[in-house]
Amino acid sequence: MKGIILAGGLGTRLFPLTKITNKHLLPIYNKPMIFYPIQTLINAGIKDILIVTGGNNAGDFLRLIGNGKEFGLQHVNYTYQEGEGGIAQALDLAEFFADKDKIVVVLGDNIIEKNIKKQVEAFSKQEKGAKILLQKVKDPQRFGVPVFNGDKIIKIEEKPKEPKSDYAVTGIYMYDSRVFDIIKTLKPSNRGELEITDVNNDYIEKGEMTSDILNGWWTDAGTFESLLSASKMAAETGANKMD
Ligand code: DAU
Repeated sequence: MKGIILAGGLGTRLFPLTKITNKHLLPIYNKPMIFYPIQTLINAGIKDILIVTGGNNAGDFLRLIGNGKEFGLQHVNYTYQEGEGGIAQALDLAEFFADKDKIVVVLGDNIIEKNIKKQVEAFSKQEKGAKILLQKVKDPQRFGVPVFNGDKIIKIEEKPKEPKSDYAVTGIYMYDSRVFDIIKTLKPSNRGELEITDVNNDYIEKGEMTSDILNGWWTDAGTFESLLSASKMAAETGANKMD
């Protein structure tokens, strides 16, 4: 299984912090944001990693991470997203790297307390399809929100004004190689992006989506509030723990 970190986009919600640097290089407590999703993949046993970056400061990722020596890696792959066409557009750039393998995708601003080892192992045994990880949240309208019929997810709504559950779809996704065929069928959403939620809904319609609840705390860090609370949680309880 291969790992992909999506760290493109322009981070406009964090302006002016992102005026002269990339959002994923900003600090979360004592480390740059991008270190956390890298550690999430490594803790799940994934060492073959691609970082998709973008914007004006892409070279800084190389200066910071290099070949990942600090993480015990021998090599890190990089690619570059032009513009801000959405999470699915950034993921499409990973097709060549994935080379028909299953993939684990982590959004560059998603930080977790514990680990996803168990879920990644379960997905490696899943014959085909995709897997998403959910977390109960107080503000589901900020996220992709699953709609349930009993225990079953029947669709995901992206940032609904009236959420039909109090779960968020976290930015950790597992896909088989057909994800790239699905991306090629997508049309831009109202916000002009190729949406990862549309990809996930395609798998749900095919009956090929599984889900699990993420252990421990989870947060994005793409707004001032979540950037601050991510630092607080990382400082108070630690992040990327193996237990
Ligand atoms: O954090 C989880 C949420 O992430 C999910 O619940 C939503 O369903 C999903 O759409 C996404 O929502 P956001 O609107 O918060 O995503 P955002 O635009 O902040 O992008 C999150 C990360 O994805 C960002 O840190 C880098 C990467 N990204 C994003 C865009 C728009 C790219 O690599 N390229 C892009 O063009």
